[in-house]
Amino acid sequence: MRIDLLAGTAYNPAAMPSPAPTILVFDSGLGGLTVFSEVLKARPDARFVYAADDAAFPYGRLPEDVLVARVMTVMERLIGLHDPQLAVIACNTASTLVLPHLRRRFPIPFVGTVPAIKPAAEITRSGLVTVLATPGTVARDYTRGLVETYASGCRVNLVGSTRLAGHAEAELEGRPVPDEALRAELAPCFVEEGERRTDAVVLACTHYPLLLPRLRALAPWPVTWIDPAPAIARRVVQLLGRPVPGHEEGDDEAIAVFTSGKGLTPALRSALWQRGLPAATVEDMPL
Ligand code: DGL
Repeated sequence: MRIDLLAGTAYNPAAMPSPAPTILVFDSGLGGLTVFSEVLKARPDARFVYAADDAAFPYGRLPEDVLVARVMTVMERLIGLHDPQLAVIACNTASTLVLPHLRRRFPIPFVGTVPAIKPAAEITRSGLVTVLATPGTVARDYTRGLVETYASGCRVNLVGSTRLAGHAEAELEGRPVPDEALRAELAPCFVEEGERRTDAVVLACTHYPLLLPRLRALAPWPVTWIDPAPAIARRVVQLLGRPVPGHEEGDDEAIAVFTSGKGLTPALRSALWQRGLPAATVEDMPL
């Protein structure tokens, strides 16, 4: 803890600098913004670095060994530059594969984002649950393990969408996606079996909640959409604690870092600004 000697001789907690941690929130692109918003609400005092590995987007198509190597390289650079106290891997496609490697290599806590299959199994009444994810996440042993451990009593429909994350990026960059394109990605999520039909859809890619109002509107029937972002923010608070009383306010030291910046349109800059990221930089790292 630093004490400001110029502030006076009396001990005055309000005059002490905020012990705000630096939190790194990482994704392949803009999906991690859905997690960032929740973590920002929980720790508005923190210094945030939001990092998007857009040079390698989408992660969902990368072979597993390539993805592990890529995330390790990018995290090495980001952790070296920003020295965070904690990192959130706001990406299911990466978390379901890379967390053990990251934890072995770096001495800081990592909070991952993995498909919310357990809560879905708890809330479904019909027993028909869909996990909507990237093709990478759907193929992971980790995901299959979650299904076996927590949802053996349900029929779990794993849907790997090749396009939805890109559609979410396009919307934020100011290129609207037509309803038909979203409907096509949604269609396999909705299953009817006799009297029963899907009643819970796990949003197992952080990009998808960016489209949630449209997904709700286009769904053939109402379902519970499960977004794990609030649970991730709670985990961050468990690990770092709450803001110190008197230091709850943010100091606007939030920055977005892109590894290519190829989609940094004025529309995206404005979306970032509205979400609490007033500054964006490029740390050029071609795949
Ligand atoms: N946002 C990422 C996830 O949660 C993945 C998108 C991608 O890069 O394919 O899985």
